[in-house]
Amino acid sequence: MIWEGKKAPTLEGRHFIDALDFSPAEYDALFSLAERIKSAPAEFSSACSGKVMATLFYEPSTRTRLSFEAAMLRLGGKVLTVADPRTSSVAKGESLADTIRTVGNYADLIVLRHPKEGAAKLAALYSPVPLINGGDGAREHPTQTLTDLFTIVTYKGRLENITVAFCGDLRYGRTVHSLIKALARYPGTRFILISPEELRLPDHVKEEVLALRKDVEFHETTRMEEGLEGADVLYMTRIQKERFFNEEDYLKLRDAYVLTSEKLKLAEEDLIVMHPLPRVTEISYEVDEDKRAVYFQQARLGMFVRMALIARLLGVA
Ligand code: CP
Repeated sequence: MIWEGKKAPTLEGRHFIDALDFSPAEYDALFSLAERIKSAPAEFSSACSGKVMATLFYEPSTRTRLSFEAAMLRLGGKVLTVADPRTSSVAKGESLADTIRTVGNYADLIVLRHPKEGAAKLAALYSPVPLINGGDGAREHPTQTLTDLFTIVTYKGRLENITVAFCGDLRYGRTVHSLIKALARYPGTRFILISPEELRLPDHVKEEVLALRKDVEFHETTRMEEGLEGADVLYMTRIQKERFFNEEDYLKLRDAYVLTSEKLKLAEEDLIVMHPLPRVTEISYEVDEDKRAVYFQQARLGMFVRMALIARLLGVA
């Protein structure tokens, strides 16, 4: 670990809106804490006693909301939640700024998921407590990046010199946008981008990656088979139905890629298959039995790394 033997960088009181808000050393310190929590959860079971976290989810979620809530409960804290904006004063026309200013009176930490790009950044301007972006439209999903990097560290033992093949909806997939930027800061990362022409990684994301590291290698292809060879990580993604303007366009692309056991024969024996989930049709169920499929373990690791994040933002660990 980069900071080992030194004082862990402080994250207390900070917001977490973009994957690049934390330095590689700060990520590293979070992974060390997540590993300690995973190994000895009882030692942290009252770390957040007396603290309250609010989860405001204006878009559907299973993993992000529930893993954050499980994380806070396992740290001994309490949770307030709006899982459906129709049950809150948003339905009466309340602005996001007013909601955040109000909820900041009740909670020590806020997690927000919102369909609009930039909503988390705006909310942070009004939040008197640390605000975590739980996904803003097609833009970013930084705590999925925490989960993904922690999974790669856990299974591959490193973040440097990794070849990651991203497959599926690279245009609208916010988890890809956050992860690719965070990974680009490590030396020797290579990216294979597998997508239909219509769903290629947006140029602005590529430009941000190249601004971080000029020599980063991208290999773009529409063929999944081509992308499987030589990859250390295959990062599958769902075609993001909710971001399409019409159903017909979505249906045309929905089944563009389906990972099967047969296709996995082309990949390395030590590949890991990741997916932020939920999955629809892009990974066939038979693949779940393959030892290289780690997406459910990835979802479990996400809870521990979110425990570490909550503890650090609240300054209790
Ligand atoms: N990975 C992820 O963000 O899943 P949810 O949409 O279920 O939270």
